[in-house]
Amino acid sequence: PGGVPAWLVIGYLELLQVTGDPVLFPRDSRLWSQRANIPAKWPLLPMIDRPNPSITSTVGAIHRSRVAMVEPALESVDLVALRHTCEHLADQLIDTFCGRGTADLVAEFAEPLPMSALGWIFGFAEDDGSQFIGMLKALTDGSSAAGSVYPRLATRMQQLLTAKRARPGADLVSRMLTHPASCTDAEYAQDLLAVIAAGYLPTVDWIGNSIRLMRTDERFARALGGGPQSVEYAMNEVLWEDTPIQIFPGRWAATDTRLGGKDIRAGDMLLLGLAAANADPHVGRQPAENSAAADTGNSAHFAFGHGEYRCPFAAQQIAEIITQTGIEVLLDRLPDLELAVPAANLVRRPSPFLGGITSLPVRFTPVRTTRTPQLAGQAHTPGLWRSTNPQSRQPSS
Ligand code: HEM
Repeated sequence: PGGVPAWLVIGYLELLQVTGDPVLFPRDSRLWSQRANIPAKWPLLPMIDRPNPSITSTVGAIHRSRVAMVEPALESVDLVALRHTCEHLADQLIDTFCGRGTADLVAEFAEPLPMSALGWIFGFAEDDGSQFIGMLKALTDGSSAAGSVYPRLATRMQQLLTAKRARPGADLVSRMLTHPASCTDAEYAQDLLAVIAAGYLPTVDWIGNSIRLMRTDERFARALGGGPQSVEYAMNEVLWEDTPIQIFPGRWAATDTRLGGKDIRAGDMLLLGLAAANADPHVGRQPAENSAAADTGNSAHFAFGHGEYRCPFAAQQIAEIITQTGIEVLLDRLPDLELAVPAANLVRRPSPFLGGITSLPVRFTPVRTTRTPQLAGQAHTPGLWRSTNPQSRQPSS
């Protein structure tokens, strides 16, 4: 919007070069030569020019110190408990629409599931989660409300920190606060906001795009109800072919240089074309034509970035567990689920960065709320997700 100039890096090798060289191409918007020309109300400003120091906006030693605080907190999440929690959350959500025979799987499943799971991880209440959903969408989609949303989110994170200081719990925020690094509460709040913003919508879109693929692509249609493996295949295929973050802002050239045969000037902004680089014919990856299983082992895609600022591995695992568990439970409970509209009618998110769909209308044979009868009608009770079912779900196959 606004014709702001930037380079979109679409070659696989060029993207490796940019993401692998944080000295020549730092993630530092202070270098931006266009900064003075950008109107204060430019809707993408909160996403691109992050003035407050956090894990996603700092460079060098400061960035490494933020990583040293955030990564161990993410690594301390109990993944087995997270999986059980996600099964329980997915069941609760499905209970709210399974008797109807129709649903919008974006609004009723893909959006609330990761927010509730992140609420369980970070220790915020479900009421907060419902508000965060709208605010994070406004921020990432670059809506006109983006500018006013950022301070509201920051204030909510400050309040969450104050609450956790007063009453620590077994959650990620409380664990972050025990880190020996001396951060101010404002800095902790910025990191919290950055991590939740980095993780939420991409996970929503990984769920939505994977379900869409499984219900529209012949290879996965044949594997319907085919159990957890087909879900894994679809998820990996999405990371290559329909990745949640299609374009990531950004990097800034530290000096004049050349890239992909082009002259790049110091201060130019570079957008990471993650989806385009995945599709670069020089990569030599051929989508599997006959078997969904043919290409699952190849994870050399750019979906989670690369280099010093790539998505932390623990965060990738968290996103994977939420997505995989959610889809497995959904297909286990509603095995004949199908799209209720032609695939061509599905609408993409208005975001210049994310590639998810705005709604996913489906139909299925109505079923009773048999899985979590004790929870029927209570799906939105704050804190309910904490009483997780210790019994692991058996693979549907
Ligand atoms: C499908 C889900 C996800 C996708 C596709 C994704 C993708 C990415 C990408 C592409 C980056 C790199 C940005 C850059 O190079 O500047 C990134 C960074 C990051 N992601 Fe993820 N992410 C996902 C889920 C999550 C989750 C669930 C969390 C946390 C709970 C998370 C936390 C982070 C953080 C903290 C960073 C910044 C790392 C740094 O700057 O050192 N992400 N993510």
